[in-house]
Amino acid sequence: MFVFKAAVVGAGVMGGEIAQVIAAADVPVLLKDVDQELVDAGLAKARAVTEGQVRKLVEKGKLSEEAAQAQVERVVGGITGTTSYDGFGDVDLVVEAVPERMEVKHAVFAELDAATPGHAVLASNTSGLSITEIGDATQRPDKVFGFHFFWPASRMRLIEVVEGDETSAETAQAAMTFAQQIRKVPIRAAECPGFVVNRILLSTASEAWRYQDESGVSVEELDELIKERAQLPMGPFRVADMSGLDTVVKVAQDMQDAYGDRFYVHRGMQEKVERGELGAKSGKGFYEHA
Ligand SMILES: NC(=O)c1ccc[n+]([C@@H]2O[C@H](COP(=O)([O-])OP(=O)(O)OC[C@H]3O[C@@H](n4cnc5c(N)ncnc54)[C@H](O)[C@@H]3O)[C@@H](O)[C@H]2O)c1
Repeated sequence: MFVFKAAVVGAGVMGGEIAQVIAAADVPVLLKDVDQELVDAGLAKARAVTEGQVRKLVEKGKLSEEAAQAQVERVVGGITGTTSYDGFGDVDLVVEAVPERMEVKHAVFAELDAATPGHAVLASNTSGLSITEIGDATQRPDKVFGFHFFWPASRMRLIEVVEGDETSAETAQAAMTFAQQIRKVPIRAAECPGFVVNRILLSTASEAWRYQDESGVSVEELDELIKERAQLPMGPFRVADMSGLDTVVKVAQDMQDAYGDRFYVHRGMQEKVERGELGAKSGKGFYEHA
């Protein structure tokens, strides 16, 4: 199946960048959220990411200023922001990126089932919820699959392609092909909480979170130590801030429910979420964000 037009539902931490990745591959894409301000924030993120990408090429002498500007307009111009399902009648593929709660996913998939043509395939960017259960909200569970991007979606090349019990072989193939069309590297992952990457990454992060809660060592110090020793671009608390603390706490809780004490929910992080301190997206988490 060739994707001539796509849509992304949810313009938050992930959705704006996912739309950017799709538009950068010259596939026109709708970006939907529940109100215009959120849509505009997603579009602004897509523009900022594209500008950052072309700036690097200009600095290396690989792109002229003029061509860079044209590229930004081409990519951003390929994304149409919306707060409704108007325009979903001729999409071939949708990526859902709404909050990690099954009842929200169910509501959105039921709406997508009604709004999109019968041939369209419907993907969830879920970090670990059951694709089979998400597909139950539709009349086309054979066309529902997991398509798990990683933060930041514009830079991370890996995508986990997850088949639910009902996902057809044709749909899984379409997912693999689309991932390559948008210049990503797909791997097929089994349907289980956390799939492959989050099972590994969150078990490591859990140890750092547990240690911080137990020892009281400062978050900044621990982040710096891990960053230096493991040669990572940032430590686990800053990564959590950038990913959205509400999402991280929910995913960590789901993993603990599924696998027990191997996974840990950081107490301080949970308290921050209760206070509305969600990290970069709310301006404050473990760190202040401009
Ligand atoms: N944040 C990460 O690092 C990360 C990484 C990989 C996967 N994910 C997954 O991606 C999904 C989205 O996560 P996020 O971090 O972007 O969340 P987010 O909270 O930043 O954004 C979710 C967006 O969905 C919107 N939304 C809610 N209901 C909607 C509806 N009915 N229609 C349209 N928009 C709606 C919200 O207004 C919000 O803007 C989750 O399933 C999450 O587990 C997140």
